[in-house]
Amino acid sequence: MNVCFVTSECVPYVKTGGLADVSGALPVALSRLGVHVKLILPLYDSIRVFDHGFIHATEFHGQSVSVADEVIPFNVWYGHLPDSEVEVYLVDCPRFFHGGRIYTNRPDEVLRFVFLQHAAIRILQQYAWSPDIIHANDWQTALLPRLIRTEYAWDHLFGRTRSILTIHNLAYQGHVPEWLSLRLDGVGNCLEDGIRHADRIVTVSPTYAREIQTYEFGEGLDGWLRSRGWDLDGILNGMDTEVWNPASDPHITTPYSAEAPGGKQQNRSALLKEFGLPAGDDSLVVGVISRFATQKGLDLLLAVLDDVLARSPVTFVVLGSGDAVLEDGFRYARQRHPERLGLRIGYDEALAHRIEAGADAFLMPSRYEPCGLNQMYSMRYGTLPIVHATGGLADTVIDLDEHPENGTGFIFRQPEPQAMAHALTRAVQAFRDGNRWAAAMRRGMQKDFSWDHASQAWLDVYRRALAQSRP
Ligand code: ADP
Ligand code: GLC
Repeated sequence: MNVCFVTSECVPYVKTGGLADVSGALPVALSRLGVHVKLILPLYDSIRVFDHGFIHATEFHGQSVSVADEVIPFNVWYGHLPDSEVEVYLVDCPRFFHGGRIYTNRPDEVLRFVFLQHAAIRILQQYAWSPDIIHANDWQTALLPRLIRTEYAWDHLFGRTRSILTIHNLAYQGHVPEWLSLRLDGVGNCLEDGIRHADRIVTVSPTYAREIQTYEFGEGLDGWLRSRGWDLDGILNGMDTEVWNPASDPHITTPYSAEAPGGKQQNRSALLKEFGLPAGDDSLVVGVISRFATQKGLDLLLAVLDDVLARSPVTFVVLGSGDAVLEDGFRYARQRHPERLGLRIGYDEALAHRIEAGADAFLMPSRYEPCGLNQMYSMRYGTLPIVHATGGLADTVIDLDEHPENGTGFIFRQPEPQAMAHALTRAVQAFRDGNRWAAAMRRGMQKDFSWDHASQAWLDVYRRALAQSRP
């Protein structure tokens, strides 16, 4: 089976969030199942082509595509995802992708990714490579399902191709400015266009697949999603169990595992020391690693932080960046509680590992969460997640008080400050019972969140798409 996977970010080259983790892992898992994958993404100026072993694909010298009445030249770089057979093609167009940022607020933001999609099609044409599946991800690549049926319908290369759209986050839709819409067959919303035209739609957890068909979570597209309900699946993301493995993690102080969990204590001490926090053994150390965006619900934490700290022995370690109001909110909170709240504003991969290893619990109060990866990393690191019951969080965490025999964390049902505070209090109580806590840690660490399950489910979806006749 030939699959062309098109994405706007991918680990290890460029990452702002979970989409990059998935783009770097799912194609590799599929290729281990015998699928032939070509992965296409932009060459942003932050990507060092030579460090990643890319070579210039000379056959693209002097090539261009015509987009919105403009001829746009580009180059292509060719390589492989590490230790895999997945072929990677980087679309090199300085005008669009050398602005220092992956996503911009520029007026040509949508045009940048429209261009990427035409270039992706041109790459397949250049190699006369007929994909069974074109796999688009989020709004940045959501026009591909329609493009292969309209503008490129003349090309037999795509005659039997089926398209899949993965929705990693429904809130970002790619609204097309009017000047551009006129040149794009009147498309006004990229994600909506993909939802209407993809042969199948997949989102990244079963619960989110149900939620997005409701008014509350549908972001204005629930009507379209309901109308495509038969073609919509939810497949829980896997996680990279090599990169996130406490037994071999090069970023942490002392390795540990479910069988030999002792080392976690040293990581805890090292983390507290790094942040200059005096927390004793009875204090629950709660980690947060997040984009600071409304989605993530961190304002709920800021709303009850003073109360929680006054009432319970809790210490927070927070890593993240984004929304300036939230950044300032956490800076101010640290000034008020310098001994109870450690803060790093920024993006830091190695520190993210040290927090997962050193914290006792991990907080994700997301208002919505299509899948979420950190709750899975947390369980693997014996760090009990405290989560709002939504999307992938609801699908991966089992509440310890409700299910004493198989609980792995703490869940609250309403995205409200008091509900979150109550879950934190329950975690503090459970933490006092060392045996109970240790058993929950062990259960989480033994869970299998690898891509093995997910990639098989993806293969099934591809097969179903191929078996589907086209109207
Ligand atoms: P989303 O994609 O919505 O941000 P996910 O949970 O799917 O949420 O993925 C977030 C990914 O980004 C995780 O791998 C997480 O560790 C990482 N991450 C987020 N913020 C930071 C940060 N400030 N520093 C390091 N890693 C971060
Ligand atoms: C999005 C979602 C996140 C999901 C990730 C990967 O960024 O916000 O929940 O885990 O995509 O699918």
